[in-house]
Amino acid sequence: MRKPIIAGNWKMNTSTSEATELVKAMKKKLVSITGVDKVLCPPFVSLSLVKDLIKGTSIKLGAQNMHYERSGAYTGEISPVMLSGLCSFVILGHSERRALFEESDQIVNKKVQAALDLQLTPIVCVGESLEQNEAGETIDVVTRQIKAAFNGVESLQGTVVAYEPIWAIGTGKAARGDQANAIHKVIRSVIAQLYDDSVAQDMRIQYGGSVTAANIAEFIGQPEIDGALVGGASLKAPEFISIVEQTSKIKKTG
Ligand code: PGA
Repeated sequence: MRKPIIAGNWKMNTSTSEATELVKAMKKKLVSITGVDKVLCPPFVSLSLVKDLIKGTSIKLGAQNMHYERSGAYTGEISPVMLSGLCSFVILGHSERRALFEESDQIVNKKVQAALDLQLTPIVCVGESLEQNEAGETIDVVTRQIKAAFNGVESLQGTVVAYEPIWAIGTGKAARGDQANAIHKVIRSVIAQLYDDSVAQDMRIQYGGSVTAANIAEFIGQPEIDGALVGGASLKAPEFISIVEQTSKIKKTG
């Protein structure tokens, strides 16, 4: 049984005081929900304060990105060494990073290696664009991204994959549960090819892209979907709590 995992990707939102308020508004309820890994991914400048606010609870912390080098002349960048000890997860290869900051598959691969070397658990994002989707290229694109991200990676150490079709991110147009489930199945089979069946069966694969409290059940009800990477809806405490709550209930009874 894979433990479901819901991660909130706050993106470039929340001041430090807003981050504090958001955590305070969700903490008690989130802690009371069992059977789900709950991960908050605030901006870098709020990692430390969120870490203090969730100390001693079951809530986990993640970063949204990092550089692959451990230190050096990389003005404005954050290294895996800086994150290790501060948080346990790091989102890598998000489509916004790939598209807006020109992160290639090779860079994502270097980041995955660098994170794992320091016991940070990557949440590796993959997903096709609308054009690729309409051209029937989804499986090819996702397969290429997965193979590239894990190239030369010997042990996945709990790595999570997030399938996020780009056309569904921030658009309010989520994929259908069965569509997403089919791609999750493909991802699992690529992992089985690269590693083995038991590694593939253990890997948690999240869906991401316009997940809300109103549609989470459709995704979580699918056998291959182990959770969600939530953007916009993770900034609203009651909605994020409801997403985690529904996930817990559905996976426990399902
Ligand atoms: P969204 O973002 O939930 O706002 O669509 C998801 C993501 O980018 O991880």
